[in-house]
Amino acid sequence: MADNKSATLRLGDKDIDLPIYSPTAGPDVVDIRKLYAEGGVFTYDPGFTSTASCDSTITFIDGDKGELLHRGYPIDQLAGKSHYLEVCYLLLYGELPTGAELEDFEARVTGHTMLHEQMTFFFRGFRRDAHPMAIMVGVVGAMSAFYHDSTDIADPWQREVASIRLIAKMPTIAAWAYKFWIGQPFIYPRNDLDYAGNFLRMCFAVPAEEYEVNPILSRAMDRIFTLHADHEQNASTSTVRLASSSGANPFACIAAGIACLWGPAHGGANQACLEMLEEIGTVDRIPEFIARAKDRDDPFRLMGFGHRVYKNFDPRATVMKQSADEVLDLLGIDDNPKLQVAKELEKVALADPYFAEKKLFPNVDFYSGIILEAMGFPTSMFTPIFALSRTVGWISQWKEQLDDPEHKIGRPRQLYQGATLRDYVDVEDR
Ligand code: SDX
Repeated sequence: MADNKSATLRLGDKDIDLPIYSPTAGPDVVDIRKLYAEGGVFTYDPGFTSTASCDSTITFIDGDKGELLHRGYPIDQLAGKSHYLEVCYLLLYGELPTGAELEDFEARVTGHTMLHEQMTFFFRGFRRDAHPMAIMVGVVGAMSAFYHDSTDIADPWQREVASIRLIAKMPTIAAWAYKFWIGQPFIYPRNDLDYAGNFLRMCFAVPAEEYEVNPILSRAMDRIFTLHADHEQNASTSTVRLASSSGANPFACIAAGIACLWGPAHGGANQACLEMLEEIGTVDRIPEFIARAKDRDDPFRLMGFGHRVYKNFDPRATVMKQSADEVLDLLGIDDNPKLQVAKELEKVALADPYFAEKKLFPNVDFYSGIILEAMGFPTSMFTPIFALSRTVGWISQWKEQLDDPEHKIGRPRQLYQGATLRDYVDVEDR
């Protein structure tokens, strides 16, 4: 990576030269690894607003241009021309597959969609009102207790099997978490259905009658999976990388990613956004909520708005908005009040100088919930679907880190502001 460029940091009377590396796309980076050893100081960057935690070849985001590339291919082309399992192959192996490679990959995934039968009892240990994300965190973590033959991360073959198992079984786990929550029997995967159709059937079929997969909904579902597949070093991906850096098994690492994604500032925003649209209710109440979002004394934020990296627009939101129009139109839902509120809210917010100067606009979570609700999902299933989709991104980044000979355990330092050394005082003397 060295490019013979460097930055000089002056600390007191000492100059420290720090190498600068130029990426294939994006800003240069300053390598500060020797800073503490040579300068006796740490850098300070809570929230990692200016810190690259790794080097990667998987996904690139240009926040100013609103560009998202997976292995160089733009998300709008992948969402329009590809499908989720092909994008999974691209993220995992770096290139678009040939026809034969894709067929083999899809067969491998299809062959792993069933869960160990004993896991059905694990689901039953939860209360019926458990949030599906709580079930997913538990069940995915428990996979390390059921699939011992793919937990040794030193074995490339076991890493590959764990990767396929996780991608293949997440739809079954998410669907069964939903079925358990609504008190219906688990529906087993079918090998004659594609990935998205299988998921829809496992969620919405009942033993009492035949279920026909609606091709429109299946295509929309597959597109939602693709739009959420990977996104550089976001909070949950960074969690997976940090967990993996200690040598933890893949199922434990992905369970950690699911737990992090659950937060409303991250993957939980799609559920929070739809609940916000429900609370707003009608277009005439939008000014009240815009005012609250702008009030620094009010913790309320417009859910589904804003992004750490995108400072122009989120290309996934653009595709999602088109898809929302298509799906609702094809389903004959032309008076969806939440979509009307969402579109008017976007229009009002984008015309407001506050949001323009803070560069706030809809992100991937703003419209996704409207489509998912139209498909029949409750809001509590929105983040599990995000987790299902993002599993391939977490796995791809996990594999990349393990393949990096320089990778080591992640162990950040701190700016300590606590008490300095003092002696213990017996309780009678306090
Ligand atoms: C995802 O990282 C990723 O890539 C994530 C993701 C992925 O695919 O993995 O893209 C998925 O998580 C999308 C984001 C979903 N979250 C939300 O929609 C929740 C609402 N948005 C925010 O909470 C916020 O915008 C974040 C968390 C997304 C980004 O936060 P930052 O980058 O830390 O920005 P910030 O909180 O420092 O805000 C900067 C300013 C603040 O005002 P000041 O303190 O400077 O006066 O903008 C304001 C914030 O108050 N602001 C908002 C706002 N988001 C930021 N004000 C109102 N509504 C909002 N949504």
